[in-house]
Amino acid sequence: MKTVKLQFNPAFRQSNQSKHRYRALKGSAGSGKSVNTAQDYILKLSDMRCQGANLLVVRKIDASNKDSTFAELQGALFAIYGADWPLYWVIRSSPSLYLESKVTGNAIIFRGMKDANEREKVKSINFPRGKLTWIWVEEATELLESDVDILDDRLRGILDNPNLYYQMTFTFNPVSATHWIKRKYFDYKDPDILTCHSTYLENRFIDEAYHRRMMRRKEQDPDGYRVYGLGEWGELGGQILTNFVVEDFDVNPSRFDDWQMGHDFGFNHANAALKVGMKDGDLYVFRELYEHEKDMDDIIQLLKRQEWDHKRLMYCDSAEPDRIRMLRKAGFNAHAVVKGAGSVNDQIDWLKRRKIYIHPSCQNLYKELSQWKWKKDTKKNIYLDEPVNFFDDAIAALRYATESWRLQELKLRKRREGRKLLY
Ligand SMILES: Nc1ncnc2c1ncn2[C@@H]1O[C@H](COP(=O)(O)OP(=O)(O)O)[C@@H](O)[C@H]1O
Ligand SMILES: [Mg+2]
Repeated sequence: MKTVKLQFNPAFRQSNQSKHRYRALKGSAGSGKSVNTAQDYILKLSDMRCQGANLLVVRKIDASNKDSTFAELQGALFAIYGADWPLYWVIRSSPSLYLESKVTGNAIIFRGMKDANEREKVKSINFPRGKLTWIWVEEATELLESDVDILDDRLRGILDNPNLYYQMTFTFNPVSATHWIKRKYFDYKDPDILTCHSTYLENRFIDEAYHRRMMRRKEQDPDGYRVYGLGEWGELGGQILTNFVVEDFDVNPSRFDDWQMGHDFGFNHANAALKVGMKDGDLYVFRELYEHEKDMDDIIQLLKRQEWDHKRLMYCDSAEPDRIRMLRKAGFNAHAVVKGAGSVNDQIDWLKRRKIYIHPSCQNLYKELSQWKWKKDTKKNIYLDEPVNFFDDAIAALRYATESWRLQELKLRKRREGRKLLY
């Protein structure tokens, strides 16, 4: 077999060697948790000493696995075996995501914990060889405590291979100090629990541009930086929108009453574009482009390659008429969105009044909305009526995409109210 060239971050050394039943890996964004966990499991599952072990990978929304955990695990395979990976592993993406080691027969399957049906399904999991021994819960703060209890329950019975042990691994950003995950694994000392803390500062593999983005965040959004930069427990409160969910839905645009696009330009900040549908008054975000450090030519190439529709209305940041012109020249139906004074707060009120369904492929919008907060007057300890202007690029795209619907409603309402006055 080819020699393994995998590289690890030292922050995870102890956790990778641990056989504790619970490994709780909290950390900042970009600290290396996901890559590390994927590599750790691939190595162990490929090892003959661990024959009979199998891994279940869980995210709240099953469809989110494909671009995250499934991709990370494949990345680990490529890193170990290079182009020879098919000699050692089977990778399948249909009918469901699946990986299997040709050497050990150990396998990896993926599940969600979205509803009663999915919770029931994890109770009847089988593997071609051996038992379910390991569970990796990615973005674990998205799960309910009861979801985790159901999973925990699955790890029981005598294991034939004396090298094997049961283990659950949780990877997550410490979003809130009041989250059950803190109470369950961090406030409670237990010989079965290993906790691990990591930040992007110790990630040997992170690029310079990421550091620069984090430094900007530190200045402009110190609270967010504590959680997403330093990996410290966040404060609850001040969240602007809570009426959104990630859900796997049919993304065929013909099912919506209407749909259009929003596009917020960026280079250091993300360049974010979204496709947003409206159905019975609810919003469905069903496509996302989210790129850093790409100029407009690259963005246009990407939009074309990914077959973003040319004819549909694309509402863009009005501060950048040159970029809008470039989009129009490339054939897109791009227009400047009209920005009125105070319109952001009016848009927030409008967005609050409906349900926002986010397709699992639109992870960045979900991340931004989860941490979008009101500014705080720390002296008086009150929230102000103004959003923290940071990490809000996909949110801007959402506001632009929906603004014409809001204005239409406003016009209709005014007309109706005007009519009332006449009578
Ligand atoms: N062991 C590693 N080897 C190579 N690159 C890594 C490694 N760990 C992290 N990285 C790099 O750092 C980035 C962030 O790591 P990731 O695991 O996604 O962070 P987290 O899950 O903590 O947000 C990855 O996209 C990858 O480029
Ligand atoms: Mg991650």
